[in-house]
Amino acid sequence: MPDKYVTLTPELYAYVVEHGAREDDVLRRLRAETEELGDIAIMQISPEQGAFMTVLVKAMAGRRALELGTFTGYSAICVARGLADGGQLVTCDLSGDWTKIARRYFEEARVADRIDLRLGPALETLRGMTDEEPFDFAFIDADKSEYPDYYEECLRLLRPGGLIMLDNVLRSGTVLDETDDDPRSVATREVNERAIADERVDVAMLGVADGITLALKR
Ligand code: DHB
Ligand code: MG
Repeated sequence: MPDKYVTLTPELYAYVVEHGAREDDVLRRLRAETEELGDIAIMQISPEQGAFMTVLVKAMAGRRALELGTFTGYSAICVARGLADGGQLVTCDLSGDWTKIARRYFEEARVADRIDLRLGPALETLRGMTDEEPFDFAFIDADKSEYPDYYEECLRLLRPGGLIMLDNVLRSGTVLDETDDDPRSVATREVNERAIADERVDVAMLGVADGITLALKR
């Protein structure tokens, strides 16, 4: 098979961002403020991934969304902006510090009224939820070592036709290293194997950003 992918150079990546995402002033300032936190800013999603999430949620006329891993709120704002009127995003994180920034930007982006932030371990939050009010969309981006459990819980809480997006499924390319026994790498490889074999979902893995998998509940 001839190469069916483009290896991005920094210049080509800048082109993608320029033509692939309308990052507004609020998101631009949130990106700048998050970058001031240092290396940890790597956890923030990229602008084109954010635009993709807004479009996906909007395309499916999503009303109820779930996010595991709020960090400073960029992806939550992108999801919230895609929700239909009256929609709600439940977003989970462990960190009071990072989500303090997130809360400030939820106000600035005027989506605070549609975001329900839950502080605590995401798995506990998920396990405390019933499937009475199923979700349309779930973004999995919290503790990588818990991805297989998040995946199962999100599937349980999603409506048929609901969509899971898993972040960081390529782990900077290290998924290829079978000798990498970091629990986060092991769990990522495990969830990748599970999703592609899972008859409960239609699945598509994309080489966008650090790799994202879409799993559509049947
Ligand atoms: C890390 C986590 C993320 O969710 C991400 O998108 C990039 C990096 C990390 O823990 O290093
Ligand atoms: Mg991530």
